[in-house]
Amino acid sequence: MIGIFDSGLGGLTVVRRVRERLPHADLVFFADQAHVPYGDRTPEDLDRLMRANVAWLDARGVEAIVVGCNTSCAIADAYGWPESSAAIFDLIDSATIALQRANARRIGIVATAATVRSGAYGRRIREAIPQSEVWEVAAPALVPLVEAGRIAGDEPRDAVADVCTQLPRELDAVVLACTHYPVLAEHFTAALGAGVRQIDPAFVQADRVAALVESRGHADERGTTRYVTNGDVALFRHNVARITNETNPLVEESAALAFELDGRA
Ligand code: DGL
Repeated sequence: MIGIFDSGLGGLTVVRRVRERLPHADLVFFADQAHVPYGDRTPEDLDRLMRANVAWLDARGVEAIVVGCNTSCAIADAYGWPESSAAIFDLIDSATIALQRANARRIGIVATAATVRSGAYGRRIREAIPQSEVWEVAAPALVPLVEAGRIAGDEPRDAVADVCTQLPRELDAVVLACTHYPVLAEHFTAALGAGVRQIDPAFVQADRVAALVESRGHADERGTTRYVTNGDVALFRHNVARITNETNPLVEESAALAFELDGRA
């Protein structure tokens, strides 16, 4: 079984890519909607949440954790991933591989405020691609729009356009460095133009976990996906069905991680 976690609906864009690559694998997705958005939280709180998410998936016995949250990966860059019996696949590694494959040099990063503040993306890309120039822009307005289902029309289009105007011109690639953003891909295409390549690290995440699973073989798995939230389960069911196109998704409510946090960045 493969585990995926995020603060909310964004992780579904990772689930989708893993499912495409591994149609028979069993997946469990945990959405920590009790604490969404992560992007406005302090590093200390984000570290605590990241560890709790990994522990929750470990307790389910997953063999791999495909991280569906860039903000957690940015925090792990500073604090390290916790010990886990599962192999952990990090989105920043996957984004870097995708940029190398695309031969990108002038690179824009659009991400949550916490991810941008960490500087993790810029540091890791410059290490892997020394000739690169990297610009990072925070987009705090976008996650709340996706969580509220406001993904079509002027409001999300203008919000994405506003973020993209903060990037320099003539970029080779822009990384959608928050898993909520691929839901808004059409607005990014409208704002950036077709000449700028959009990088969604979820594709490489899926390739990497597929390589692991295929090397082991799992004839006993049936291709089920369990979607678990610690937030509003009725709303979650509606949004999962809308984003995944599944008519009757296997949705569960969990009281896991429903602790209060007081810190705000
Ligand atoms: N989707 C997450 C990410 O990739 C977190 C977004 C948020 O909760 O602010 O960063």
